[in-house]
Amino acid sequence: MTDSNSPVPQLTEEGGHGGKAQQKKQKKQKKSESWRPQEAKDRFAMLESLPEEEQQEIQRALHLFSLGQSLPRTLQEALRHTYRFWDSQPVPKLGGADGTHVGPITEPDGLVRREQYSLPPGFTWDTLDPTSLSVLEELCVLLSENYIEEDDNTLRRQFNPEYLKWVLMPPGWQAQWLCGLRVSTNQKLVGFISAAPTNLRIHDTERMVAQVNFLCVHRKLRQKRMSPVLIRELTRRVQQQGVSQAVYTAPVVLPTPLATCRFWNRPLSPRKLMDVDYPGLRLNTKLHLKLQRLPKLPKTPGLRPLTLEDIPGAMNLLHTHFLESGLSPTLLPQEAVHWLLPREDVMDSYVVEASDGTGLTDLVSFYTVSTRVLNHPVHSHLREARLLYCVTTATEPVDLVEDTLVLAKAKGLDLFSVLDVMGNSCFLEKLKFVPSKDYLHYYLYNWACPTIHPDKVGLLVPN
Ligand SMILES: CC(C)(COP(=O)(O)OP(=O)(O)OC[C@H]1O[C@@H](n2cnc3c(N)ncnc32)[C@H](O)[C@@H]1OP(=O)(O)O)[C@@H](O)C(=O)NCCC(=O)NCCS
Repeated sequence: MTDSNSPVPQLTEEGGHGGKAQQKKQKKQKKSESWRPQEAKDRFAMLESLPEEEQQEIQRALHLFSLGQSLPRTLQEALRHTYRFWDSQPVPKLGGADGTHVGPITEPDGLVRREQYSLPPGFTWDTLDPTSLSVLEELCVLLSENYIEEDDNTLRRQFNPEYLKWVLMPPGWQAQWLCGLRVSTNQKLVGFISAAPTNLRIHDTERMVAQVNFLCVHRKLRQKRMSPVLIRELTRRVQQQGVSQAVYTAPVVLPTPLATCRFWNRPLSPRKLMDVDYPGLRLNTKLHLKLQRLPKLPKTPGLRPLTLEDIPGAMNLLHTHFLESGLSPTLLPQEAVHWLLPREDVMDSYVVEASDGTGLTDLVSFYTVSTRVLNHPVHSHLREARLLYCVTTATEPVDLVEDTLVLAKAKGLDLFSVLDVMGNSCFLEKLKFVPSKDYLHYYLYNWACPTIHPDKVGLLVPN
């Protein structure tokens, strides 16, 4: 049985091209061995030949099973785990001394490997061109089918080309850092990892680092140590450009978190979220639903969408805001334009203009992600806003964010999600955000420094 869609290259049977004698031998063998249980078949092809419902059941079971083998979610679990790959990398050791050494863990010796890392037979590297719509669409398929999902496999992220363009192509982006993994025979994209250059302030040091994102391996290739190869190859490509540090985030505990932040969620369409049984929200009664009501209109005078002319004022606000932070981007004007200027269905930014004409006093922005609801009779999609920046100098944060909730709801978004970074904790409970079970850990590659409290984390990485 062959499977042209399977991402896993099929191993050819030994001597499988044989002539008549070979066929005769096989026939004889088949007859004499008819009592034997059937040979192992291509499991993926078998799975795909089953009715859709059965496939979903099996995938759900496999998914739950794979969760059992997943990586540590807490520091205690992590201390008992053996990190075969990460222990070989220049990252701070788990349980090591915090803050005794500040700076690079290894100094570059100027000798960066010139050849790409070798892949298992049947796979090839590819540098993805995000200016090509067809490439972006391929990437959307890979990520939508294989990126993060809820534990019970009922919700799955859905990516679109406009969103990926925004995240993958900030000023200074390089195609070499968009590293794809393909099956050689059919060119199917089965793995990806990306990076983009970012000027980062870490405590008192400023470094050009690679902001790594979207590590993804096709679900049929999991647990086969493909990730270390992807990470090594991207590291090589980054080092070739003279960059020795990276920043990345993950929901799992690896060696060693620089900061650990928590997601908080606020329903905007509580009834829909109740219908799809969105995890972790307290929406069981009519009273719960009633408590989620929001004002009809925003209240802050002077609140309006950000325009290109607002960029210098917005940069000033961010600059002052980040002075408080231990980890923040230092944005150049073109980067501020990229990350702040509203893009339809991708991101929104609002500013508050002082009534006396003295300039901008507040800034708030969020980006939008879509989620597919699997197997639901009524709902097929959810749209979620994720807070990017919230900087206030005149308006109370709780008032500005409440207005933002109102604006997001008016745009048809169903949920608002916030990380408890940079002073956000002051409005979360007041605005009925619910703490999620999901944490996000921040990591630095090849840099040692003291850990950072969530309240001092200014960097947000849309993914
Ligand atoms: C994350 C993912 C690529 C890992 O693939 P996998 O098949 O489970 O793991 P592999 O066998 O390829 O590699 C295992 C190694 O990768 C490391 N690893 C796993 N997830 C990682 C992550 N998110 N970031 C960094 N390293 C990770 C593991 O720690 C392990 O190394 P170790 O021996 O030092 O512990 C895969 O689960 C996936 O695509 N998940 C969906 C997308 C996703 O969650 N991406 C990460 C977002 S931060």
